Amino acid sequence: MKENKLDGEKRVITQSKKMRGVLVIVLALTGLLFVRLVYRIGGPDISANIIGVNSGDDRRNDLNEQNSAGEQAKKWLSAKIRARKVVATMRREEKEAGVAGVGWAKGPCVGNVAPLPGLKQGLCLQVSQPFFTFPSANIDNLAIFSLIKDAPMGVRLAPNVSAFPSALNAAASFDKRLMYKYGALLGAEFRALGVHVALGPMTNLIRVPAGGRNWEGPGADPFLASVQAAAMVRGIQSQGVIATVKHLIANEQEHYRFDYSSNLDKRTLMEVYFAPFEACVRAGVAAVMCSYNRLNQIYTCAHDELINGILKGPDINFQGFVMTDWGAHYSFVASDMVMAGEDASKSVDGLTAKDIPENRLDDMVTRILSAHYVLGQDEGFPNVQFNSWEQKEKNVYNFDYRFKQHASFIRELGAASTVLLKNSKKILPLSEGSSVAVIGEDARRPNILNEFDDRGGNDGTLAQGWGSGTSEFPYLISPLEAISSRAAVISSTDNYDLNSAKNAASSASFAIVFANSDSGEARLVEGHEGDRNDLKLWHKSDALITAVASANQNTIVVLHTVGAVDMPWINHPNISAVVLALLPGQESGAALASVLFGDVNPSARLPFTIHESRRNYAADVLYDSNQEIPQITYSEGLYFDYRHADKFNITPVFSFGHGLSYSTFTYSRLTVTRVHTNDEQSAVSVKLRVKNNDFALDGHEVVQVYVAFPEAADEPPKLLKGFERVWIRRGKAADVEIVVEAKDLRVWGVGGWTFVKGSYKFLVGASSTDIRLQKEFLWR
Ligand code: BGC
Repeated sequence: MKENKLDGEKRVITQSKKMRGVLVIVLALTGLLFVRLVYRIGGPDISANIIGVNSGDDRRNDLNEQNSAGEQAKKWLSAKIRARKVVATMRREEKEAGVAGVGWAKGPCVGNVAPLPGLKQGLCLQVSQPFFTFPSANIDNLAIFSLIKDAPMGVRLAPNVSAFPSALNAAASFDKRLMYKYGALLGAEFRALGVHVALGPMTNLIRVPAGGRNWEGPGADPFLASVQAAAMVRGIQSQGVIATVKHLIANEQEHYRFDYSSNLDKRTLMEVYFAPFEACVRAGVAAVMCSYNRLNQIYTCAHDELINGILKGPDINFQGFVMTDWGAHYSFVASDMVMAGEDASKSVDGLTAKDIPENRLDDMVTRILSAHYVLGQDEGFPNVQFNSWEQKEKNVYNFDYRFKQHASFIRELGAASTVLLKNSKKILPLSEGSSVAVIGEDARRPNILNEFDDRGGNDGTLAQGWGSGTSEFPYLISPLEAISSRAAVISSTDNYDLNSAKNAASSASFAIVFANSDSGEARLVEGHEGDRNDLKLWHKSDALITAVASANQNTIVVLHTVGAVDMPWINHPNISAVVLALLPGQESGAALASVLFGDVNPSARLPFTIHESRRNYAADVLYDSNQEIPQITYSEGLYFDYRHADKFNITPVFSFGHGLSYSTFTYSRLTVTRVHTNDEQSAVSVKLRVKNNDFALDGHEVVQVYVAFPEAADEPPKLLKGFERVWIRRGKAADVEIVVEAKDLRVWGVGGWTFVKGSYKFLVGASSTDIRLQKEFLWR
């Protein structure tokens, strides 16, 4: 039995001592097999150059939010005191230079801050080198971060780094420990290259399923997003790298990205879109990036109420610095660092750096310096190791790349985020050596690896979207390669040659047909301007899938997508299995094969809903507007994704939280109690027993807790408020406890946060529509 105890978030999984004893014996007897399972399913082989991750005690790494809150405050206070002392000795022009970038591509990083007078170098927001020294500060060798660099899938524009699975994959794992390690390994790569500031995590939500950058973020639910973003912040910052949570706020589409106004009521803002940012501040995030768009007609980067009132206000009390997205500087009133560096020509208040009142300028520099100190970057931070703008070699497969020790984690997360949507006739897992037709261009290697800048093209298997959220693949294991090493394979990888596809399909026992759907940031790819034009699979894949299904009764569909897609063929009687692997990064094929052949028992869950038709979603991209400032009104308010489906009784094709295993699990013995019975605002403890009914397969089950609020709260029918990915041996049961924090039961009312008393229902299940147990809980 694997004990998975994240005591900080108080989600504790326990199992009886007796069972533990039995399992210890089983483990001892199964020796080698166990080692194999741990390698493949349980624990990744983590890099030796990561601080603390492999120490065996993850609590060191601030997984424990509760205990670290006080410590956080202390650390920030002492960092601030140090920063203030330094700022007090600085000259005005030094301070002005320290808060502005120098322009796009004018330095080794994606972001570079001007060298201050007499300084060695300027700030780099992506690649790093100690370079920000303040001669007048009279402190030897004071160096602050210089390098600021994307991105959420790996270090962008740098050779020899890892291409991790997308953040959407991490969300699909529903595993806090994997989310944390994802952050920690990313952080380790940023650090090793000397990057002081990582431009992630991205935590905008999937409001519109066609939104181009959805895959860079944590899905469609604010609770899941909050858990993931906070875990990633702790992970990245455990490496001494500043994490930047972005993009604040309501930045959910690419069309009109620099101009639109997202219009939200305060309740929707606070309960839904701001929630992940709040969670990141609680987790100690040192930087926040404000977005390009406007919020209720005011640019977010100039939004006094948003940044000074809410983010830096007394309740949230963010102590780090706010940087503008590249080119999104509009005022010095709220943001503290101008990236990539501009004059004040776009200033909405007409102020230039020269006009910033001294105390405001001091606050800006203090915040930047405090972030630097709080992460301990003044000691032992590696020098910058690369230049983002040098020509990268294409089509070079380098399995011996610099961070190869991260590959097993990338494979593990890839497998843990592969969602088994459908598996009728128990067609999966396949046995070793089966006769398999592998069909579709998404199964093969790209013709040229890293051919398209920032992955702005779609050739071969899709393992990343496009834009600033990407990294260069050191190599890419295709599904065709991986499956070929385990089965008798015949392949056909031309999507437009349906005869060849059918011939291949009919000559094998199983036909696996691959398809994808891509999207990204800003640039135009095959007619898609960042956002997808529709939710269809690319390159005529629906016709390919139908053709294959017509030729083989055992058809398995594998999808690599940036989010939900239309599945017009879903009820075809020959399509027995559907696997959604999202964007698995460099180990794509290997991760997939481990699920298809059953080394890994799948457990991933959909972090968004899939509907039959585009019309069924709550909101869509605004593609056409003749307004000077396109208006995007979030009129659906709290009701999007499963909250919308619940309210309007729409049955999805696949629900939020859905994902199958090769095992089945039974839930029983639900109890719901207040943690501290004498405290009115106490957390609520949800306990149950989960049994793995399979006698051959160990596996993870993702247990989800949804809460139905009292009517007076006027909330959607149910809201996700807890989850745990639990490891349960074959034929065994585990007792699971999920604690729903009091803060997650708050409701935003007229006067701010409030608690609504009355009858709550705690709904426990395996997806948002597969509720297995429920209990009423009276909050008096
Ligand atoms: C993107 C950010 C990114 C920045 C630097 C902007 O266009 O919106 O997410 O971090 O560029 O590359």
